[in-house]
Amino acid sequence: MELSLAIPPVDRRAVSSLFSRLRTPSGQANPLPIYKELRAMGDVIPAPWGGHLVNSHTLCDQVLRDRSWKVPGSEWRTRQEDVTRWGAPASRQMADTLPMLNPPHHTTMRRSMGNMFDRKSLEVMRESVDRITGRLLDRLTGDLCHGEVDFCELVTEELPVTVIGEWLGISPVDYPLLRSLTHDQVFTQELFPSRSQLALSDAATHRLREYFTALVEERRRAPGNDPVSAWLRTWDGLESDRAVADEAVYSLTLFVLLAGLETTSHLLSTMVWLLHEHPRQLEWLRAHPEHIPSAIDEVLRYDAPIHMISRIAPKDTTLAGVRVHKDEMVQLMVGAAHHDPAKYEDPTLFKIHRRAPHLSFGGGIHYCLGAPLARLEATSLLTALLERLPGLRISGSPVWAPRVAFRRLTKLTVARA
Ligand code: HEM
Repeated sequence: MELSLAIPPVDRRAVSSLFSRLRTPSGQANPLPIYKELRAMGDVIPAPWGGHLVNSHTLCDQVLRDRSWKVPGSEWRTRQEDVTRWGAPASRQMADTLPMLNPPHHTTMRRSMGNMFDRKSLEVMRESVDRITGRLLDRLTGDLCHGEVDFCELVTEELPVTVIGEWLGISPVDYPLLRSLTHDQVFTQELFPSRSQLALSDAATHRLREYFTALVEERRRAPGNDPVSAWLRTWDGLESDRAVADEAVYSLTLFVLLAGLETTSHLLSTMVWLLHEHPRQLEWLRAHPEHIPSAIDEVLRYDAPIHMISRIAPKDTTLAGVRVHKDEMVQLMVGAAHHDPAKYEDPTLFKIHRRAPHLSFGGGIHYCLGAPLARLEATSLLTALLERLPGLRISGSPVWAPRVAFRRLTKLTVARA
């Protein structure tokens, strides 16, 4: 008799219902029970909207590191029937940015960025990050004298845009505009954007295109000692057509802004939220600030800024016994994988001493180039908060945006104890 190794079918309606729950306020506040149900359905399960979901840490890690898996670049997007979703201007623009390029184009673009945040550059940036953090906390301290303050609005949204803005040499007058455009742009990268969200994303993309095209033109006219001018010099050596070089630099500049704002803001807000939810660990850290880096890594594991990463199957293949067809999209459920009991002991517990590796910055050839800067900003803010604001407390329930892939804490009210 032949043994049947058939995998029981997954109820697609049950998966859809889990994703609906994820977007509710309680799902946003605590997605872990939903992820537990998702993982219980299998390591690899069909996604109700097509393709598959990968829920296990081992498999997410394996796919990220396997160079044969592709990202959903422009060629893949043009083959999709859902033109509203994949043919929209914002989606086409994303397809030209670094994380959506496949080799060999990806290799050239990534190399052209250089090692943006190597040890030496970070040493230089540390001073400016600490200065900006200090200024923001001065303002926070002043405002706290009058009552409650929204920590996101005043600190965690402001620090990343000011750091990247200063680094790129952008005028502070433009920071509020860039903050708001990046929030709108991200809808195109979400799992289920509505038509109105896609329209917002398209409008933001158009404004960002104008803004960064003008910035690149300005640096052509008056090059300086900034990354955009450095990328122009690199690209002039790689490409004889100036328009092609300018387009490449435009795309790099746009992407570092998109990549570095919401993600880092989420890390900073979540760090403050989680540590205040665990006051004993917070107090211990105040006495042992040398453990700040491992606390930041636990925040990144516990609630990563990006909970889903997409990949495209390069050929018909099998993942955990499940057939995945060539060109199918799989969603690597990093948020769920970070609480996989096969990888982490007591995965639902927040433990700042854990020192466990995580996938928050991705893996393989697309590994995040901004990870050292994000860590630097988090270290600077946490160090200053521990020293300067021992009496800080969370004074209201936090509010999250109803997202699935890109987490966003929109409000975190704080007050003095
Ligand atoms: C906590 C903050 C951040 C998180 C969680 C994060 C996360 C990620 C992830 C998951 C990827 C890989 C995406 C994929 O494989 O499809 C990525 C790529 C990237 N990130 Fe970050 N990021 C953060 C901050 C930053 C910052 C501050 C910058 C730059 C200033 C940056 C620049 C990039 C770039 C350029 C890539 C593309 C790398 C490539 O495709 O080769 N990121 N990031």
